[in-house]
Amino acid sequence: MIKSPLQIARESYVPKVPSSLQGGVKIVEGKATESVADQADINKIFPNTYGMPVLSFEPGEAKANEAKNVGVILSGGQAPGGHNVISGIYDGLKKLNKDSKLYGFLGGPGGLVDNQYIELTADIVDHYRNTGGFDIIGSGRTKLEEEEQFEQALVNCKELNISAIVIIGGDDSNTNACVLAEYYKAKDAGVQVIGVPKTIDGDLKNEMIETSFGFDTACKVYSELIGNIQRDANSAKKYWHFIKLMGRSASHIGLECALQTQPNITIVSEEVEAKQQTLDDVVSYIANIVAKRAENGDNFGTVLIPEGLVEFIPAMKKLIAELNDFLAHNEAEVNALEGNKEKREFVAERISDESRSVFTSLPNSIANQLMLDRDPHGNVQVSLIETEKMLIDMVKAKLKKMKKAGEFKGKFKGQPHFFGYEGRCAAPSNFDADYCYSLGNTASMLIGEGKTGYMASVRNLTAPSTEWIAGGVPVTMMMNMEKRHGEMKPVIQKALVQLNGAPFKKLVESREEWAINTNYVYPGPIQYFGPSEVCDITTKTLKYEQE
Ligand code: FBP
Repeated sequence: MIKSPLQIARESYVPKVPSSLQGGVKIVEGKATESVADQADINKIFPNTYGMPVLSFEPGEAKANEAKNVGVILSGGQAPGGHNVISGIYDGLKKLNKDSKLYGFLGGPGGLVDNQYIELTADIVDHYRNTGGFDIIGSGRTKLEEEEQFEQALVNCKELNISAIVIIGGDDSNTNACVLAEYYKAKDAGVQVIGVPKTIDGDLKNEMIETSFGFDTACKVYSELIGNIQRDANSAKKYWHFIKLMGRSASHIGLECALQTQPNITIVSEEVEAKQQTLDDVVSYIANIVAKRAENGDNFGTVLIPEGLVEFIPAMKKLIAELNDFLAHNEAEVNALEGNKEKREFVAERISDESRSVFTSLPNSIANQLMLDRDPHGNVQVSLIETEKMLIDMVKAKLKKMKKAGEFKGKFKGQPHFFGYEGRCAAPSNFDADYCYSLGNTASMLIGEGKTGYMASVRNLTAPSTEWIAGGVPVTMMMNMEKRHGEMKPVIQKALVQLNGAPFKKLVESREEWAINTNYVYPGPIQYFGPSEVCDITTKTLKYEQE
């Protein structure tokens, strides 16, 4: 591996950990827990892992522990800090017993089933400390849900004498981790399963999981880029920049970047849904602000658009749900058709009148993108839908009409951007480097204590890291029943932006002023060296949530 000077310097960074993880660990059990909703159903599906207590660690005596072989999997989209979770697990296991071994399954959950692995030795782990990416073992989106896969994974674990698996993933992967934990516990298979909360989207959070790792770094990278664009816009004063930001469903990334950079317009999907807005409402909202700024001679600006917007516009949501169902049952027939036009017509004839009228009113490019393959979890691949371009075209058309009516006297030139992959593998900020390492250490401690069906949790994150609270949360506690592929399934409840939450309220307080005036903030790049108030601060979302 050829290393940059920063990477070499960063290798020697020692992540800060809570005091409870600095020596021996004593485990404190809280009260029995319940799932967030649908308690009877979840209890019935998870009889062996339901109701377990929340665990927290306190400093304790170092104990003699038996050596364990552990397997680790990186699942789903990359998020900054994954390598530090692995180094945290590695160091934690070695601290428990120097003869413990860590195996990395390659290419995501599929590696566990296909028995593709490497042993993660000190030599390998040391090269990846404090680096971005998931390339140490790779990631994948194979869904672990079939009994056959669980059995094959068990055979593979037995072959390597593995008695615990750590699954580093988002809500879907941790849901599957919980199903696997229950399955192995029910048959007394001798394999523990521990989850670690990962996703830049920031939507795997609750009372016990304050944030998923990677959100901090990714938002800082996007905010740096947005700040740079804003400075460019404010220098040239000739473009409106429409910036789509990743985050499959929730708008946490867009909201956090808005709080960091103060753009002119921020669309929050959850608000669009709550207000039952149409696509035309969103377009009019943007066009009116463009027109108002033009009255002051400001023919430039920035618009932040959440990646999942189309799924939150009620009529589009209904259309997408119908398309999901239709394509799930008629995929072969649709794929057999020659051109996109034929495919669109074929589909349009077979959906409800209401959805047909939305579908046929969309630009062809967007209608085609809505018909693309779903991911293995049945989600529309929203990163492939060019909402930013669609909105530019629609705002342009609206402004043309407004110009004719004498309601717009300025100029409008749009520039589309999409920031997503740029941030997912960035070198973790100090916050993510410390948080991830602590999560990895915590996972090892839970394994050492023989726990299964738990997610590693590190809380109190706006306090200095020595005061962070490490422990474990039963995954069943985060679950509810939701309809997936037409069937009710237990899943971890996704955390969307709360419209009565402090971060959104902060946006609402200022957005009218930010719309008309030019109040941009230019956050600049992540700093790894320097004063703590620059290098160690975390997101505004966490700050406002915990204030
Ligand atoms: P996870 O939920 O797996 O963490 O992935 C998040 C994400 O980055 C979304 O923001 C984005 O929509 C999606 O992954 C893109 O997926 P892919 O990497 O498969 O293109």
